[in-house]
Amino acid sequence: MIAHLFNAPLGDGEAAVGVGTVGSSEAIMLAGLAFKRKWQNKMKELGKPCDKPNIVTGANVQVCWEKFARYFEVELKEVKLRDGYYVMDPEKAVEMVDENTICVAAILGSTLNGEFEDVKRLNDLLVEKNKETGWDTPIHVDAASGGFIAPFIYPELEWDFRLPLVKKSINVSGHKYGLVYAGIGWVIWRNKEDLPDELIFHINYLGSDQPTFTLNFSKGSSQIIAQYYQLIRLGYEGYRNIMENCQENAMVVKAGLEKTGRFNIVSKDQGVPLVAFSLKDHSRHTEFEVSDMLRRYGWIVPAYTMPADAQHVTVLRVVIREDFSRTLAERLVLDIEKVLHDLDTLPSRVVEKLATVAPEEGEGHHAVVKRTAIEVQKEIAAAWKKLVADGKKISKIC
Ligand SMILES: Cc1ncc(COP(=O)(O)O)c(C=O)c1O
Repeated sequence: MIAHLFNAPLGDGEAAVGVGTVGSSEAIMLAGLAFKRKWQNKMKELGKPCDKPNIVTGANVQVCWEKFARYFEVELKEVKLRDGYYVMDPEKAVEMVDENTICVAAILGSTLNGEFEDVKRLNDLLVEKNKETGWDTPIHVDAASGGFIAPFIYPELEWDFRLPLVKKSINVSGHKYGLVYAGIGWVIWRNKEDLPDELIFHINYLGSDQPTFTLNFSKGSSQIIAQYYQLIRLGYEGYRNIMENCQENAMVVKAGLEKTGRFNIVSKDQGVPLVAFSLKDHSRHTEFEVSDMLRRYGWIVPAYTMPADAQHVTVLRVVIREDFSRTLAERLVLDIEKVLHDLDTLPSRVVEKLATVAPEEGEGHHAVVKRTAIEVQKEIAAAWKKLVADGKKISKIC
């Protein structure tokens, strides 16, 4: 059913295969392993070295891609973000592709702002590059969130197995917009041939041949049954209604925030039903303060900095799920307005700190240095940057 949802050809002689996993992270590990093994086999056949594989992604990838790269020794080549552009730039991604690239990973629904990356444009550019070079670099789509959104509310959007280079694999989380409790994800390969046979183990001690390609062996079946139930119970119409409703509620939050005149919206209308936004004016308050104050009203709205090279941008993110009703959306907007009002009535957010004055002004003396909120925010971003120096990245949001 999921392969069909992603438009895998299911006619004569075509057989998509897939695996149920704990979530998109495990799904991505498995898809990455299949790409790595396929690429290694090809390089061996060509008599070329195969010890330096790489993956090209945007710097906005979820931490599971960094885990895959480190655990399975694949270099992660990240396309940096920039002000106002928070997803992978397909042109730059294709420039980074070389003979050792096992795949380019595109995200359908960036974790940071919900935006769908332009998989079609990436496909077209990569088709050209493959033609010029004779390589056969494929695309994997990380559709952790978008895989259960796009097929229902943007059916015309070409991001899936309809594209020639998305001919390998797609992952999706059942526990995000698949509407199942946590602990279920999926990875689908367009064709059985895309999953190297040597990665599949066969055991028979449970009474019959059991092919297995997962990181863990034993696993509860409740989530698989729950996913099966939801798909059958709700059907295409049911999922579409729910996704449309989520999208409408996201638009209610977005319109309410715009009405305050205080925020820039950094999410897109076409994407995951979420609203990511940042303050227009940082001279008095920061997003971290807004997040902090919202907790007093019972809301957990995280504030976080964007990855390189947009780490000076901080955003707040509200994810709209099935159970987030319109009433809640309206209440959230009201509470954000109250928080802004509360913050405005506090003394101007100019932070004072003690700093040692220059020696000629008297060694050992201290002076009060005033810093604006934006300076404080820059310091927070710099501290994060320091932590990620020497390649050790901190986990991002999930
Ligand atoms: C784009 C993306 N990929 C992968 C993941 C990891 O998914 P999971 O939590 O199902 O392992 C997430 C989680 O937020 C995500 O947003």
